[in-house]
Amino acid sequence: MEHEPTSMLGGHQQQPDTPQRHHKRHDRRPAGGRSPDVGERHPERGEEDKEPRRAIGPGEVRGHRRALLGGYRRPLGGAQPAEIRGHRHERPGAIEQGGGVSEDRPGRHQQARHVHRHGAGQERHREMHEQRVQIGCPVRDEGHDDVTLMILCHTETHDMEGWHGWDDYAPFYDWENARTVGRRDIRFWQRLAEQCGGPVLELGCGTGRVAVPVARTVDRVVGIDRSDAMLRQAQRRLRRGGRGTLLRLVRGDVRSLPFRGASRFRLVMAPYGMLQSLLRDRDLRDTLRSVFGVLRRGGTFAMDLVPDLPRWSEYARRVSLRGRGRGGAVRISLIESVRQDWSRRLTIFDQEFVERRGHMRTAHRFSLVFRTLSVRQMRGRLRRAGFTIETVLGDYTGGEWHREAETWIVLARKG
Ligand SMILES: C[S@@+](CC[C@H](N)C(=O)[O-])C[C@H]1O[C@@H](n2cnc3c(N)ncnc32)[C@H](O)[C@@H]1O
Repeated sequence: MEHEPTSMLGGHQQQPDTPQRHHKRHDRRPAGGRSPDVGERHPERGEEDKEPRRAIGPGEVRGHRRALLGGYRRPLGGAQPAEIRGHRHERPGAIEQGGGVSEDRPGRHQQARHVHRHGAGQERHREMHEQRVQIGCPVRDEGHDDVTLMILCHTETHDMEGWHGWDDYAPFYDWENARTVGRRDIRFWQRLAEQCGGPVLELGCGTGRVAVPVARTVDRVVGIDRSDAMLRQAQRRLRRGGRGTLLRLVRGDVRSLPFRGASRFRLVMAPYGMLQSLLRDRDLRDTLRSVFGVLRRGGTFAMDLVPDLPRWSEYARRVSLRGRGRGGAVRISLIESVRQDWSRRLTIFDQEFVERRGHMRTAHRFSLVFRTLSVRQMRGRLRRAGFTIETVLGDYTGGEWHREAETWIVLARKG
């Protein structure tokens, strides 16, 4: 039976329904008014990026969804939950192998990277040409034949998994998000963690954008993610700015959380549309069951969802972001395509990050895919998994949910 809302963080329970269509995407600009692009500190590399990006047209607004952005590796072996003892790890930032994820088999992109590291001039060109043939993907040389590398190919939707693409996105994730969502959701997650107390588990902690600041406010924070490359970025973030911060990083799959000794966490959080990386109902069901198992009775499961993905119109190869990285030495641009698979409620972002350093041009191509359920559907799935819905919020300051809300934040309780 559903309980009355508790007005957590000032919110009220609503009766949300499916999102209204015709939502204007330019409403989804990052909040705050200032341009986050100018003079931002590069979150990953700790560098200043002073080059203002070009104005973005209304049809290509960068917003909350930007970070949500796979698909080259085959599904990995079956889940084998491993027990992870203790909360304080010995080496700060060490990545524990949580089980449920077997090592990726070398894929096409790894071969391409190999080429990238070796050879120069003609030799490299020859290798690259061979590689392209091997990879079998279309290559756009644009007059830079001897210096252009194409890394990765886009994949058909039916081959894609929600955890695909993140390893390839990892070097660019923080660069991009410093220009979009920034830190506007951080305080919300910190306050919630303070209210609930530790231990706290973040599902899909990625580069530690949320987990590291949360670990500064509460003890015993664990971040789990399937992507080793994302976790390594989190490790760097910890070493760079997380002095004294204790955050345990675990590599594992949220569909089968590798924590034995049930009911340990007071709060499990899934920020920034993490659950939208679960592309099938059974993936979501397994995850909810898994979360239920690791939450204490009375504990909170909190998630935010990016509502407007299905409303994005499809487009091909638009330059969506431009800026500088690596101390200004590298020019980076993002060329993006959007595809919709409405029958499966999937939105696919085909990404091409192009890095230019002098005459060297490297293109990293990958895709990310997300599934968007309505709030009503998500509430139903949560109830079926045994949760009680506490409240649904529409923004990070505790504002009420409404159809045009910038984000959907659902707080649910176990027991
Ligand atoms: C949108 S990012 C969110 C990262 C971080 N929470 C933030 O707010 O910046 C989603 C993350 O979920 C991870 N992920 C996707 N599917 C996963 C799965 N099945 N198990 C574990 N992690 C997964 C991805 O590797 C990625 O780091």
